[in-house]
Amino acid sequence: MPQPPRKRPQFHAKKQPFQRPFPPRGRAESSREQGWDQVAVWYDKLVGDGGSDYHRNVVLPAAMRLLALKTGETVLDLCCGQGVLIPLLLESKAAKVTAVDASPRLIEAAKSRFIAEKRVELKVDDATVPGPWADGSHDAVTCLMAVHDVADLDGLAKSVAASLKSGGRFVAVFMHPCFRIPQQTHWGWDEGRKLQFRRIDRYGVHLDIPIKTHPGQGGGDTTLFHHRPLGEVLTAFGRAGLAIRVCEELYSHRRSQAGGSRSKGEHRAAAEFPVFLALEAVKLP
Ligand SMILES: C[S@@+](CC[C@H](N)C(=O)[O-])C[C@H]1O[C@@H](n2cnc3c(N)ncnc32)[C@H](O)[C@@H]1O
Repeated sequence: MPQPPRKRPQFHAKKQPFQRPFPPRGRAESSREQGWDQVAVWYDKLVGDGGSDYHRNVVLPAAMRLLALKTGETVLDLCCGQGVLIPLLLESKAAKVTAVDASPRLIEAAKSRFIAEKRVELKVDDATVPGPWADGSHDAVTCLMAVHDVADLDGLAKSVAASLKSGGRFVAVFMHPCFRIPQQTHWGWDEGRKLQFRRIDRYGVHLDIPIKTHPGQGGGDTTLFHHRPLGEVLTAFGRAGLAIRVCEELYSHRRSQAGGSRSKGEHRAAAEFPVFLALEAVKLP
């Protein structure tokens, strides 16, 4: 049967990011240069005590489920930010939580929350260069929403492996490397097929993408998002001696409220295109 002609979807191309122009930076410098310390006040407000909308509904539940913490275990939270994961680790009866971030202001924000908690130790440090915390003693290492913010992924993977005891677990949740590349992935609507599609403009290269963190609030602060293809991300952890046991694709809890003719297509797209990738890996002996 002849099909009605399909309308071509309309695209609005956004500004191109620049490609990786420089090698990874040294200890504790990278994050400050990339803006996390500058945007610490904004980020702390966004995340608050309980986490952002995505933290509460998707990221934290998945992380805690994959972590499956046992009473008395020790956890190292790399790139901890203002400490959003810490209350959940304490509730799960962690014996000790060491939390590391390169932003002094975010660590200050975490200290203001956990200063009285004897089980928590907070440190300003570069997670990609093994510090005293990388002592092979931890039962588990976590890294939430930061794999794509770290310039030196191999360095991060090596730090994780050096921090874990043999058989220790690593849990990471980060932006899906295929479907969530800032400025390079977009929703589009195909009128002929009545479906919402995900358009991917660039993928198989390294991209360092400047992100304006709080548009509309008068600030000009940016952070850098480091896109790498999926295979490179998984291989970096594998090469460091971390065997991936679970790789879960996480979907948004948000659904279109618009109703109308696109609602079914939009719902399906939200249910079928993942937002984040979650990994659980174990340190090989
Ligand atoms: C999007 S925030 C996530 C923070 C926290 N895990 C959360 O889920 O709210 C990314 C964090 O990665 C940290 N970061 C980036 N590169 C880092 C590095 N090389 N060493 C330590 N922290 C780093 C930043 O300072 C920032 O706090």
